[in-house]
Amino acid sequence: MIKVKGLQKSFRHQHGTQLIIDMEEWSAKSGDAIALLGPSGSGKSTFLHLLGGVLPIDEGILEVGGQSVSGMRESERDAYRARLVGYVFQDFYLMPSLTVRQNVELVLPRGLGKAERDGLLESWFERVGLLERMNQLPSKLSRGQQQRVAIIRAMINRPPLILADEPTGSLDWETAADIMGLLLDICAESGSTLVTVTHDRHLAELFKTKLDFASINQCLSVHQTGLTPIDSRISEAGGVRA
Ligand SMILES: Nc1ncnc2c1ncn2[C@@H]1O[C@H](COP(=O)(O)OP(=O)(O)O)[C@@H](O)[C@H]1O
Ligand SMILES: [Mg+2]
Repeated sequence: MIKVKGLQKSFRHQHGTQLIIDMEEWSAKSGDAIALLGPSGSGKSTFLHLLGGVLPIDEGILEVGGQSVSGMRESERDAYRARLVGYVFQDFYLMPSLTVRQNVELVLPRGLGKAERDGLLESWFERVGLLERMNQLPSKLSRGQQQRVAIIRAMINRPPLILADEPTGSLDWETAADIMGLLLDICAESGSTLVTVTHDRHLAELFKTKLDFASINQCLSVHQTGLTPIDSRISEAGGVRA
């Protein structure tokens, strides 16, 4: 499902470029459920953005579902993301002025007939226990309920790859466990591959594969020092170091 080889991504800063992702080789099978753990600032979100085609890759190979994402132009990455990727974020990103049903409708294909559309929406809202709340604004729902809606939005077109960036990071523990369970169940039901970034080692235990980001990203040791590669060179040369 996912194949990575020699993948690199840098960001430009005032003082030069900083290598954030340096990944020799990594792969995931179709239907895998992977929890990515690692310190803040270590490039986990950047990695998800590369997998999702949000950011372009500098070097190397990234293949998802047999497609070479590394070779795509921006418009091709947009089309790839729309077809193959569902995203779940920590802060849901629901449109506040639309009902939760309308929020989900935004991502449905245009050609659907009314009956088909209504049936699909109702079955999904029922699946996550929110059938009675479909026509309410997001602000009327709890945070856990809002994340359930965001999960429908990510999954309703059944993309083969789901990327979740700290999807429970802003929820209390009990709700977080519910939401993570729901995400895992729905991905298993539809056979989607799930890559989830989480801080929570207990929640990571729910996943078949737990992966320390340091074990696949060679850049990590640099970030843990809080120094950019340029700073590191200065300190090695006998410069100031806290
Ligand atoms: N668009 C960007 N431009 C410049 N630097 C960025 C950008 N996005 C992230 N970074 C930097 O890349 C590093 C990794 O960030 P991120 O992927 O968000 O880490 P994580 O999700 O593991 O906390 C951080 O040092 C961050 O400041
Ligand atoms: Mg992040």
